[in-house]
Amino acid sequence: MCGIIGYIGKRKVIPLLLQGLKRMEYRGYDSSGIALIHDQKFQLYKQKGRIEELEKVLNGTAGDASVGIGHTRWATHGEPSVLNAHPHTSSNGKIALIHNGIIENYSELRKALAKKGYKFQSQTDTETLVHLIQEFYEGDLVNAVLRALRRLEGTYGIAVLHVDEPDRIVVARKGSPLVVGIGEGENFIASDLAAIVEYTRDVIFLEDGELGTVTTDNFHHFNLEESVIKRKVTHIDFNLDQIEKGGYKHFMLKEIMEQPQTLENTMRGRALDDIGEVRLGGLIRRLDELKDAERIMLLACGTSYHSGLVGEYMIEEWARIPVEVEYASEFRYRNPIIPPNTVAIAISQSGETADTLAALREAQARNALGLSIVNTVGSTIARESEGGIYLHAGHEIGVASTKAFTSQVTVLALFALLLAQQRDFPTDKIKEILGELRRIPSLVERILKKDREIFEIAKIFSRASNFLYLARGPNFPVALEGALKLKEISYIHAEGYPAAEMKHGPIALIDRMMPVVFIATRDKTYKKVIANIEEVRSRGGTIIAVVNEDDEEIMELSDYVIRIPSCHPMLMPILTAIPLQLLAYHIANLLGRDVDKPRNLAKSVTVE
Ligand code: G6P
Repeated sequence: MCGIIGYIGKRKVIPLLLQGLKRMEYRGYDSSGIALIHDQKFQLYKQKGRIEELEKVLNGTAGDASVGIGHTRWATHGEPSVLNAHPHTSSNGKIALIHNGIIENYSELRKALAKKGYKFQSQTDTETLVHLIQEFYEGDLVNAVLRALRRLEGTYGIAVLHVDEPDRIVVARKGSPLVVGIGEGENFIASDLAAIVEYTRDVIFLEDGELGTVTTDNFHHFNLEESVIKRKVTHIDFNLDQIEKGGYKHFMLKEIMEQPQTLENTMRGRALDDIGEVRLGGLIRRLDELKDAERIMLLACGTSYHSGLVGEYMIEEWARIPVEVEYASEFRYRNPIIPPNTVAIAISQSGETADTLAALREAQARNALGLSIVNTVGSTIARESEGGIYLHAGHEIGVASTKAFTSQVTVLALFALLLAQQRDFPTDKIKEILGELRRIPSLVERILKKDREIFEIAKIFSRASNFLYLARGPNFPVALEGALKLKEISYIHAEGYPAAEMKHGPIALIDRMMPVVFIATRDKTYKKVIANIEEVRSRGGTIIAVVNEDDEEIMELSDYVIRIPSCHPMLMPILTAIPLQLLAYHIANLLGRDVDKPRNLAKSVTVE
């Protein structure tokens, strides 16, 4: 996820910006850059890769500039490169901008600006904004920024400089954090407290829809309607480690908790529920092939494989195209049959998993259209695929994947609906499902409030040595994922099974010592799952059930219940995954495990 730092004061700004950027490295990035104003001109330095690359170019120069902005970019539009790195500058070279977030209507704006003669150098959504500000500039940067922002759809945290107004940095926020650090005769801006906390602990947080002008000794704070805001200074008293983790003990917990936002980002500009349409920019050039698709193969490993299994239910139900989901490691060595009009999709958080990449190449070599669903923009799988959908879930640090899973399922739902809309699936049904999808972030938020309750259940079971996870239908893959989460980070043996399949083996394991987690939300298999719960109960197993909020029936049959809101049954896996992530997390944490870096596991498995 991108990072913003800015400074105006008396210090030499280059070392300060570099240090701030380093403090934000933990967020993940693939390029970085700084812009300084000196002698009424910009000095601009950008590099792909690590901040050390930027340092190399600067070669120890501290320079004399004392106003500047810096950015670490985690690519969303356009691959990691020097041209796509921020800061971006306007056509006349007088304005420099850094931006976090996603501009949804950038392609319309880009077309309109290009017609007026603006020259674009990058593939980013951000560059449209800097040209737009130039378009509106009439000697007052704040006014130009205000006018440009009024034309913008999407999210932003921005910092803007103009060479003719070197005494100020203009900042604004909507949906992407921004904070102003207050010093004496100097002020700081950042997207992340970690970047500035060593210089000041007195800060003012911007809220959505707010702007500000930061000068050496003042912060003028107002909103889009230009009403002045007077907000109290907040004093920060937690340490750097706590700040990086957003106040949470582990990155994994932070990533679980940020899912309402990551899911919102995943569907932004794509799920048009008002008109019942899905738009996926990365597939525009492939729409004809998708229209002709007769078979879909989903290739993945680990958690990504589980999201593929959910995708299978959705694509087959809505688009009525046969789907095969396969472990990438098996697919690549099994001489697979790929008939004409097959679309193979590699699903990978990192975009670098060796087996998934090899499976994609294998499918392409056998004439399948090779697409990808990836979180990391510009990763190898993203580059080698012929089209794809990015998750926009932000950098995931915890080795055990959480937010990437729910975003993958969301993207697969969008993809399934895109295929369905090409196949005359009724628009009002698409509308209805998209409407349900749009509710998901707020429903996830409600589930996250159950954290304490789930912690209490975790306390009871943290000493268990085995767990069984059972579910049916689209929730069955979530049972697999719940078991995987638990074993990955707690080292407790856990198995996931389709609930009915239990009779063919795992039932032999059930006794008083065996907690069985059921996902038993209402869908067409609900009654069947109840029957499976009865079977476990009659053998003395302990039942923890994830149920709908208004469910009384299962309450009676279970030892512990976790109640969650309901939505469209096919989208329930996004919701049911959340309590299982929290359960695994709390158990592992209670056992004192190294949650973010579990033993023997790697975040990105780049070997076979
Ligand atoms: C590793 C990680 C898992 C991940 C899997 C696939 O095993 O620990 O969390 O699900 O790789 O990774 P990918 O990046 O391809 O989704």
